[in-house]
Amino acid sequence: MLVVEGLVKRFGGFTAVSNVSFKVDQGEILGLIGPNGSGKSTIFNMLSGTFPPSAGSIRFEGHEIAGLAPHRIINRGIGRTFQIPRPFRRLSIFENVALAGYYGQGGAQGGHSRVKAEAAAERALAMVGLPGDRHAPVDGLGAAGLKKLELAKALATGPRLLLADESLGGLDEHEMDQAADMLRKIRDELGITIIWVEHIMGVLMRVVDRVMVLDHGEKISEGLPAEVVNDPRVVEVYLGTDADATQAVAEAARR
Ligand SMILES: Nc1ncnc2c1ncn2[C@@H]1O[C@H](COP(=O)(O)OP(=O)(O)OP(=O)(O)O)[C@@H](O)[C@H]1O
Ligand SMILES: [Mg+2]
Repeated sequence: MLVVEGLVKRFGGFTAVSNVSFKVDQGEILGLIGPNGSGKSTIFNMLSGTFPPSAGSIRFEGHEIAGLAPHRIINRGIGRTFQIPRPFRRLSIFENVALAGYYGQGGAQGGHSRVKAEAAAERALAMVGLPGDRHAPVDGLGAAGLKKLELAKALATGPRLLLADESLGGLDEHEMDQAADMLRKIRDELGITIIWVEHIMGVLMRVVDRVMVLDHGEKISEGLPAEVVNDPRVVEVYLGTDADATQAVAEAARR
């Protein structure tokens, strides 16, 4: 479904993503992990058109999409969430999601329909478990609620590939498990392929089919969760940097 080859992003003299290649199969959940600053969000920014790659190719369903504008990429069927939610606070939850749905239309189908956008918003809100009433305000949503809103906005654009930049900061353990279960449900029930970014390994490993690990902008490991946690390069990057990751690696090694 997605074939990425030799992806590079430089900011001035600094290389944030260095020659990264990977594939994602239809229906798969690929986990993308790595320490802070390893280039995860930068990869999403290139896949979603937020900024163009410095080099490399991104083919989605057979078509080159590298460097296309964000709305064109959304219209091709790639939706994303943002690591830092920035909803329109003066709009209701429903309006935020319907607006995303409206923005996500067009392209091949052509034209924009408010009715369709609102129907997409209703489905997306039901999927993530947020209130579907038209006036519920954004204020009062906690970290977990804002993440759900991000997810609903992305779903309302009608993606076949979802880029979920969760980086589950601000969630407690129970909320993290819920977020992980929700991504699996989105894949299982809607058939949406997912790339899930997270820097905490533990929760992610439970849900993903395959994992890719970045460090300093380079891909250092890729494979099944059980393989990756035992990869000495991954252990080296994670041990001593993050208590949860250390625990996840230790637990996986015991199994
Ligand atoms: N627009 C930008 N301009 C300059 N440098 C940037 C820009 N965006 C990201 N970077 C740098 O690129 C590197 C990778 O950042 P990125 O946000 O992709 O990391 P990340 O893996 O998502 O980290 P985190 O886990 O903290 O979210 C970092 O050193 C960051 O400072
Ligand atoms: Mg990030």
